Amino acid sequence: MLGTDLEIVLHKATGEQRREKPDQDNLGFGQFFSDHMFVMHWNREKGWHDARLQPYQDFSVDPAAMVFHYGQAIFEGLKAYRGKDDQIYLFRPRENLERLNQSALRMCMPRVPVDRTLQALKALVYLDRDWVPDNEGATLYLRPTMIATEPALGLRPSEEYLFFVINSPVGAYYSEGFNPVKIYVEDTYVRAVPGGVGEAKTAGNYAASVKALTEAQRKGYSQVLWLDAVERKYIEEVGTSNIFFVINGELITPPLGGTILPGITRDSVLQLGRDWGMQVSERPITIDEVVAASEDGTLQEVFGSGTAAVISPIGELRYRDRSIVINNGETGELSRRFFEELQAIQYGHREDPHGWRVRVG
Ligand code: COI
Repeated sequence: MLGTDLEIVLHKATGEQRREKPDQDNLGFGQFFSDHMFVMHWNREKGWHDARLQPYQDFSVDPAAMVFHYGQAIFEGLKAYRGKDDQIYLFRPRENLERLNQSALRMCMPRVPVDRTLQALKALVYLDRDWVPDNEGATLYLRPTMIATEPALGLRPSEEYLFFVINSPVGAYYSEGFNPVKIYVEDTYVRAVPGGVGEAKTAGNYAASVKALTEAQRKGYSQVLWLDAVERKYIEEVGTSNIFFVINGELITPPLGGTILPGITRDSVLQLGRDWGMQVSERPITIDEVVAASEDGTLQEVFGSGTAAVISPIGELRYRDRSIVINNGETGELSRRFFEELQAIQYGHREDPHGWRVRVG
């Protein structure tokens, strides 16, 4: 694998290759893309090579490329924040690249050189710095992605890959913004099985989830909450984020057991909870425990955590014929505190005791 010696060539977008900037107040999520992208290629002989920062453009990929047939595709999501004095920051980007490499191992794909790829991410954001929004809560979302490109139909790991990073200026992931969302507890479909690929950030996990999502949305819910595939009783994660419960003062999130995504926001929430002296537990939690806590009045708050979702308060969980209303459907105090603290660190408005922020430029 090529590492620090990987040469990165820069092709800046010309005036006419530059793209029209969207209205910053109506960004939505992932609908607009910036002027530049990063690409690099891998094959067995050369390792990573032909690395370029270039204008955003289409790819030419062979119809037999293995990604189209057998789904070797992994990705990441991280954000660039415009903070005080127009300084731009990334949040824990190294962890994203390390998680990408874990996904790569699981999917028999090549790992990226973390230091050099991080340099490329920073250079890309710097090139597209005008695309980092300056309004409250908006960010530039980076989507590093790797796909199998060898044209071949025999089932085996591809021997050629393309890695690319595109940028999208985004607002809140949910149309509710920071207001509580309603979530459907899914007990028919499952997301991941023990021994499967649940902890890898691979495209197939998301493809497999959209049927449950559309059915939940048809019933009026924003997302699904997945239960474990074996007993349909242990809580796993929400479609786009990890999940936290506050029960009787204890901050609880399901443990990383191979079937859920090791979220970087999840890890940051756990750390902040510990910093604040809370009782923090990564432990199995069943949907029945949540129902019981709701009934005896000890269920205080529920929220999702993720890069796209940030901290998303949950106001209602629908489980079979039961509606579990949390904190009267309002944003809880702790959800707000985690949201504000994380954002303040990400935008550079507050101390960064754990060294999570990385300056760009
Ligand atoms: C993220 O939070 O970055 C994700 O990748 C989730 C995706 C469904 C938007």
